[in-house]
Amino acid sequence: MSKAPVAILGIFVADLAFRAPRMPLMGETILGHGFKAGPGGKGSNQAIAAARAGADARMITRIGRDAFGDMARAAWAADSIDISGVVSDDSLPTGAAFIFVSTETGDNAIIVESGAAAALSPADVIAAEGAIASSRVLLTQFEQPVETARVGLGVARRHGVITILNPAPAVPSDGEIYRLCDYVTPNETEAASLTGVRVETLDDARAAAGIFIARGARNALITLGEKGALLHGASGSLHVPAFPVAQVVDTTGAGDAFNGGFALALAEGMSAPDAVRFGCATAALSVQKPGTAPSMPRRGEIEALLRRG
Ligand code: RIB
Repeated sequence: MSKAPVAILGIFVADLAFRAPRMPLMGETILGHGFKAGPGGKGSNQAIAAARAGADARMITRIGRDAFGDMARAAWAADSIDISGVVSDDSLPTGAAFIFVSTETGDNAIIVESGAAAALSPADVIAAEGAIASSRVLLTQFEQPVETARVGLGVARRHGVITILNPAPAVPSDGEIYRLCDYVTPNETEAASLTGVRVETLDDARAAAGIFIARGARNALITLGEKGALLHGASGSLHVPAFPVAQVVDTTGAGDAFNGGFALALAEGMSAPDAVRFGCATAALSVQKPGTAPSMPRRGEIEALLRRG
């Protein structure tokens, strides 16, 4: 069976992840309990999640001609990701992210500098139109300019490709972009920031989702951490619980795992509820390993977890 094609418009950065019991205060130095450098960036992580789950993943981005750019190419080659939509920028460096991971809870806090991918332009997207048009799903985020995401979603819509916007980080926009989205997939923090509704309960999530729908999105899919995800659209509202996890090691890649798994599942023709379950299983497996891209599970692991329930 041929692999389902998924185009991902987003960024690659090198993740520099520090484990410590807490964040330092301003002016303070604390000792770390572990450090790892590895491939990251929401777009690239989502591409790797989709590829490992079974997609023919096509990455559209910009990287620098430097050591972190080499890290990107090695990561994409290892998972057979199509990079015909990747531009090597002669003047800008590949970006990097500072990631704090709590040794107590596995929770994280991130500062991301998009580097060359901050210059990812509408023209770059148009140059990759063929890769988008021949995909079943386009997945994008907000780590590159919002206008670039908007053009990508517009190109996908014109070609009848399913569109998913993961609005992370929660960058405010004029709201028009949501009209181009089949699915908007914020986590609870991003949903609160983009709608003004504090998301603590399922009812709060439904209220926030209603605002994305009122702005023109066909469906809102709010991820809720250990509470799972809420899918809300014209055909109703569905809460999908999270899969139980024995020990959470690192939650940094969970959202990207969910989005990559969800996109692949839709591209394979699964129903939206089944695709949400597939995304939840992908996320549950990713939080049990350290790192972002390296924590993405393979298809066999996801199917085994879905069978166990
Ligand atoms: O979603 C996690 C990702 O966000 C990290 O890999 C980091 O690079 C930031 O982009």
